[in-house]
Amino acid sequence: MPDTNSPRPVPAALLATLRSIVGDRGLLTAPSDTAAYAEDWRRLYRGRTDAVIRPASTREAAEVVRACAEAGVAVVPQGGNTSMVGGAVPAEDGSELVLSLARMNRVRDLDPVDLTLTIEAGVTLKAAQDAAAAQGCLLPLSIGSEGTAQIGGILATNAGGNNTVRYGNARDLVLGLEVVLPDGRIWNGLRRLRKDNTGYCLRQLFVGAEGTLGVITAAVLKLFPQPVEVEVALCAVPSPEAALDLFTRFQRHDAASIQAFEYMSGAGMDLVLRHIDNARLPLAQTAAHYALIELATPRPQAGLRATMESLLAQAMEDGIVDDAVLAENTSQRAAIWHLREEHSEAQKRAGASVKNDVSVPVSRVPELIRRAGAACTALMPGIRVVPFGHMGDGNIHFNLAQPEGMDAAAFLARDHDIMDTVGEVVRDLDGSFSAEHGIGKLKPYMMPDWRGGAELELMRAIKHAVDPRNLMNPGKIFP
Ligand code: MLT
Ligand code: ZN
Repeated sequence: MPDTNSPRPVPAALLATLRSIVGDRGLLTAPSDTAAYAEDWRRLYRGRTDAVIRPASTREAAEVVRACAEAGVAVVPQGGNTSMVGGAVPAEDGSELVLSLARMNRVRDLDPVDLTLTIEAGVTLKAAQDAAAAQGCLLPLSIGSEGTAQIGGILATNAGGNNTVRYGNARDLVLGLEVVLPDGRIWNGLRRLRKDNTGYCLRQLFVGAEGTLGVITAAVLKLFPQPVEVEVALCAVPSPEAALDLFTRFQRHDAASIQAFEYMSGAGMDLVLRHIDNARLPLAQTAAHYALIELATPRPQAGLRATMESLLAQAMEDGIVDDAVLAENTSQRAAIWHLREEHSEAQKRAGASVKNDVSVPVSRVPELIRRAGAACTALMPGIRVVPFGHMGDGNIHFNLAQPEGMDAAAFLARDHDIMDTVGEVVRDLDGSFSAEHGIGKLKPYMMPDWRGGAELELMRAIKHAVDPRNLMNPGKIFP
């Protein structure tokens, strides 16, 4: 995006103070070092910043935020910078500083009896999963960017992902939080209690606030026993309705064993097979629609394989599954998940795309896929409709890839038209315009329409009470 604002440099005295707090290792000021922190993963927004501050402890983070507050300089908290909505990019005028949590990457405690993980914000989700697995536990949060995304950002955006159908979103996994408030005070709410009714639930205020109320520096997360039986199947299905029917059958049989139930369109799978290395379809032929099912249980000899086989055999007999393959080992499991997880990357390589991270009641997912697809094709003939995602929780990434050969910028210039076209269908189906990616810089313009009136007024009142000078991640969430 072009920089139209005149530069507003950060006072040199503040940078000197910050250096005295975090040391040379903790402060990046060379444009070649800071550039990557000023642009989002999708390359939709390019900001500018005079410095990236990288504290190594909560105390340092608090001193940094206090110094910035005293100087009246805004702070943009940043984790792995994998936001889909530009949630962690600084402004274009250079007036904001990026606060990277990457050096706060310690696992502070893991209790396999309490089933809790106390962890700092800069630990990647993958490292957190591995720490849990090393103690025979499961951290049941899984997203495509887990190797890069960090716990702080995951919580600040209330990430969802593949396991929401069973364990809920990031918010459902948080027992405690440690937060640096906009004035530099530290709120230590790192409790690991399963019951704690003591007035307003403050931790849930910061989860999903996208860094607009404070900086999450550590958290206590819920763990679960590690599954010992896991089964993964990839199915070719004749329609989105058939995929939903299949989900319902698994749910009625044993809802508690469904670890993930994902939908993919034929168009999305084709892009993966075309653009992603090592992507190979383990079915005899391509299909118009696919379902990926993962079952898991910590119960030994639970017979998940037999469950999977018998439900799929019946589904084939009933014509709701055309073909299916079951993974025989962990590498086949990973190969099937690779086809699902590389959808975003494949779309990126296929050119410009407009993402609609939307949710509807699970029962209405097929109608969403049909109606929104028809509406987008009517809006722009040739547009490639690539819906995929978390069918089991009703969150579909209703993404649209540019028509082949169209100019990318011309396509992106129509982004609001496309988003509004999908949004109309979503609204009609009682859904949400923002399921798991958050609002960031991309969607604030939609807030008055979707969350206006008392809801937005209440959010503004909370923001004003906690961050009256608007120094925490300005320009995000609020229009
Ligand atoms: C995913 O589930 O892969 C991401 O949230 C999706 C996206 O690219 O929209
Ligand atoms: Zn997703």
